[in-house]
Amino acid sequence: MLVVKPVKAKSKALLDPSGSVWSSIAASSLSLKTTPAGTQPTSYTKVAGKQRGEAAVTSASMRLCHDGQRIYVHLEWKDENEDLATDGNGFPDAAAVLLPLGNDAPINQMGSEQQAVNAWQWRAGDEQGRSVVARGVGTTEPTPDPVEVAAARAGNRWRVVISRSLAGAGSDSVALATGGDSRVGVAIWEGSVGERGGFKAFTENWTDIRLAE
Ligand code: HEM
Repeated sequence: MLVVKPVKAKSKALLDPSGSVWSSIAASSLSLKTTPAGTQPTSYTKVAGKQRGEAAVTSASMRLCHDGQRIYVHLEWKDENEDLATDGNGFPDAAAVLLPLGNDAPINQMGSEQQAVNAWQWRAGDEQGRSVVARGVGTTEPTPDPVEVAAARAGNRWRVVISRSLAGAGSDSVALATGGDSRVGVAIWEGSVGERGGFKAFTENWTDIRLAE
């Protein structure tokens, strides 16, 4: 169980990916795997997945905290190429956090019909975060929940913060509360090799979290 501690810091400071507050929070190292070709939703993407081979990013570090109102997820990983959504000539680097709406949601299928998952996504060059709900691979739909994102380059690494209100808004958004438990997963897309949608690196297992009061 990873304990997500409360911090006394301004939202602006937490939304600085290189800010000093993050250096005081312990990092968990994540091992990322390639989404299996056999799990892709269509015959075209199954074949394409097989031809693509391994996803680019194999590890990342994750730090979490909350300020009583919002949860903040800090991710850092090595990426030599900066691929921005605004380049207009390819695919942006991206990262997302997955949380289950039902606690038994399978991470390796992006949830199921009965057990939905909520994902919060950052795309490089896009100042607006996105929130989607999924009930199995190939079913993602946007949800109106505002997600705040911030990113910075640190040498050949990305540092990204993804933040949302604990409570969320609407039935397709995961509701968190201090004192409560949840689980998180992470996915990372490497734009320079055309990763997008189902082609990405992901954590095969949930990390259980508890939001300390
Ligand atoms: C921690 C795990 C995961 C996270 C955080 C995650 C997150 C996301 C997000 C944010 C999107 C929508 C944005 C976009 O299309 O770029 C998406 C789409 C997609 N994901 Fe995942 N995902 C995860 C695991 C998986 C796995 C294991 C598969 C299996 C192949 C998968 C297959 C897909 C597919 C096919 C799409 C695009 C089609 C659609 O719109 O549903 N995902 N994912």
